[in-house]
Amino acid sequence: MKVAFVLLSSLRLGAGFPGMMGVGRNSSPKPISKRTEPSVRQPLFLSKRPNTGITNPHPTFNATAQFVDVGPHSGHEFQAPGPNDRRGPCPGLNAAANHGFIPHNGILTAADGECLESTTAGVYSLTIVALKGLDEAFNVGPTFSVGASAVGVVYAGDFLTGTWSIGGKYPGSVPLLTDPPGLLGTHSKYEADGSPTRGDAYLNGGNVDVLDMNYFAQLYNLGTEYTHDIVAAHAEYCQAYSKANNPYFFLGPIGAFLSPGTNGLIINMMSNHSADIPGGTLTRDVLKSFYSVTGEPGSFVYKPGYERIPDNWYKRPDSFGLEDIGSDAQMNNLMYPGQISLGGNTGKVNTFTGVDPGNLTGGVFNAANLFQGNNLACFVLQATQQAVPGQFSGLLGNIGDLVKWLADILGPITKELGCPQLDVFRKEMFAPFPGAESYLH
Ligand SMILES: *[C@@H]1O[C@H](CO)[C@@H](O)[C@H](O)[C@H]1NC(C)=O
Ligand SMILES: *[C@@H]1O[C@H](CO)[C@@H](O)[C@H](O)[C@H]1NC(C)=O
Ligand SMILES: *[C@@H]1O[C@H](CO)[C@@H](O)[C@H](O)[C@H]1NC(C)=O
Repeated sequence: MKVAFVLLSSLRLGAGFPGMMGVGRNSSPKPISKRTEPSVRQPLFLSKRPNTGITNPHPTFNATAQFVDVGPHSGHEFQAPGPNDRRGPCPGLNAAANHGFIPHNGILTAADGECLESTTAGVYSLTIVALKGLDEAFNVGPTFSVGASAVGVVYAGDFLTGTWSIGGKYPGSVPLLTDPPGLLGTHSKYEADGSPTRGDAYLNGGNVDVLDMNYFAQLYNLGTEYTHDIVAAHAEYCQAYSKANNPYFFLGPIGAFLSPGTNGLIINMMSNHSADIPGGTLTRDVLKSFYSVTGEPGSFVYKPGYERIPDNWYKRPDSFGLEDIGSDAQMNNLMYPGQISLGGNTGKVNTFTGVDPGNLTGGVFNAANLFQGNNLACFVLQATQQAVPGQFSGLLGNIGDLVKWLADILGPITKELGCPQLDVFRKEMFAPFPGAESYLH
């Protein structure tokens, strides 16, 4: 989802919305208070790419098409979340819900969406929400919205009804089974370590929904206007910080993609556009609006769940897909070799050990081709598909139905992206990482 990922990106399990139903708190170890500031690498070069990303280096501007009206009588006025509304770790999803582009209660259902058509792959399955509202608000394309929703339904929702929650858990369709957890309950499966503003679960007593003011201030202070090169530096900082502080730091297939990818989403999704600068600019005020932060460094105040689309704001000109997130992340990896890495710390800080993608996938993807074309987006979707059976065995009797459902949804997307066939996925290679515990089971 173009959107869903910004949205999804900064996923963290968390405890952040006192009084808000469904914001799950896991019983967890105490937050780790001793922190070490990491040393951070300099980039090999700067990309100087516009805020529309490397796949749209020469953007155009059309005020009528790009204006997102959230003013009086627009039908998309800001409305604060109530006690029964779910809000979670993704600022874009929270903002879309607060403005009624997706259901205000934060639970997405098939009935709220509309099937988007793909020119090459035909009509996507009716059971998935294609999130037309996210397209209206952010210009998110189908490979992003459908891909991210499918993964959302699988990990955070209920595939029998095609629903999922952008925040905490909600009652499922089969009362005897565990309630669908929502994004807040998907740590290391969907929500991952190393995100731009949310602290790692282990460092925050299991909460993945904590806006880490250190991270936010770090990003804020990198500039007065933000670019891809700035958030690439921020992704580098967050990874270095996690490696130096979190013995359980873990990047699985989605996490490895999201750590640089969600940083890129900040730029691709939140920038404001104009005739003068069609590539877009992201100012401090706009950043604070999307993150529900007010005040100045040293006295920032974060109001959980109040993320908002600014007045007089113009979205990106073109539809943004999962493959575009992949392309920007690949650029980060050229600037900072190894910024896209699978693996984790092995129980102590500063023990980061990588997993070879070639060995993991029986040679279909390897360290060289993973960063070519659409392969990174393919890898994320296909690795998810391959990992699902083991992750859900014992939980559901009808695992076969879930696997088929997912294949029906993702099949057209992977076909459209031209993904190679993936039959081998040695998930057990993640076993040495203690942070992979909830990913593996
Ligand atoms: C700008 O967008 C509007 C609304 O989508 C469209 O009707 C119009 O033709 C576009 N103008 C140009 C010059 O493309
Ligand atoms: C977006 O850009 C336009 C054109 O420069 C400007 O008028 C408007 O105030 C900007 N919006 C925000 C929220 O900064
Ligand atoms: C792949 O991993 C397996 C199991 O860890 C190992 O035995 C094998 O040597 C590895 N192969 C390559 C090509 O790295």
